[in-house]
Amino acid sequence: MKNFLDIHKTDATELRTIIDNARAMKLARNGRPKGTPDDDQPLAGRMVALIFEKPSTRTRVSFDVGVRQLGGQTMVLSGSEMQLGHGETIADTARVLSRYVDLIMIRTFEEQTLLDMAEHATVPVINGLTNRTHPCQIMADVMTFEEHRGPITDKKVVWSGDGNNVFASFAHAAGQFGFDLTFTGPETLDPEKTWLDYAAGKGRPITIERDPAKAVEGADLVVTDTWVSMHDPQSARERRHNQLRGYQVNEALMALAKPDALFMHCLPAHRDDEATSAVMDGPHSVIFDEAENRLHAQKAIMRYCLGL
Ligand code: CP
Ligand code: NVA
Repeated sequence: MKNFLDIHKTDATELRTIIDNARAMKLARNGRPKGTPDDDQPLAGRMVALIFEKPSTRTRVSFDVGVRQLGGQTMVLSGSEMQLGHGETIADTARVLSRYVDLIMIRTFEEQTLLDMAEHATVPVINGLTNRTHPCQIMADVMTFEEHRGPITDKKVVWSGDGNNVFASFAHAAGQFGFDLTFTGPETLDPEKTWLDYAAGKGRPITIERDPAKAVEGADLVVTDTWVSMHDPQSARERRHNQLRGYQVNEALMALAKPDALFMHCLPAHRDDEATSAVMDGPHSVIFDEAENRLHAQKAIMRYCLGL
């Protein structure tokens, strides 16, 4: 039994195996209807709890469909409807759920909630996003890059915008998969020093470049995300927009990257804020492959967790 809590907490060899298995499972489906089961049914007879304390479209649907394709069943639980949202401890919730289900995926606010769940559950726990990280997303992103451009090792990835939870998982991935990561954004929204130190410690120091035009020179991949995350107060919206406006990914910025550079966004997007529709729907964009690959990557993550 293994948890999937973060990219930097998972062995690099295991991460590579997860990506390879995800790719193999995607190819094995070979365009068959989405609702049909895989030939392999490793989750047959197993139940997976999907807990959401924040909204979700991709994570919710891709986990649910993925479990079913692998032969298992799901239970989607909203935090506010559980006793968890009314004072029951995470530890007790983890112990109780472990008596009913074989695997727990949780999307929550504080990282400590995820860690408490993992500490007290006796079944594997998967991180479906916290305020600090989003590892399943970046597994799908690495898979997507490699489908289009081959190995991500030594490639140049540029993040433009807020140094947020999705960036943090990119920083971990830079260390684990061995690519060069540049952050461009305002100093006030710099990533946590912890993430920078982690990547540097793995021999992949993150470059910080305030000028987005300079940052994207030679980029193989340009990535952005919403300027206001689910955990950010709405009162910060205007200030954040003012700080980040200069970091919008538009056609002029993409033109400064490598001619075959890819563009990614984990979605949901605020079109024409962090990225223009021209870029999101343009020739560099692989945003819907990214979204699809959440399904395949997470199926491989669940199999890794359950040793199946
Ligand atoms: N990218 C992502 O996690 O999307 P959802 O919030 O819709 O799950
Ligand atoms: N940074 C965003 C990602 C959403 C998938 C958020 O946390 O809201």
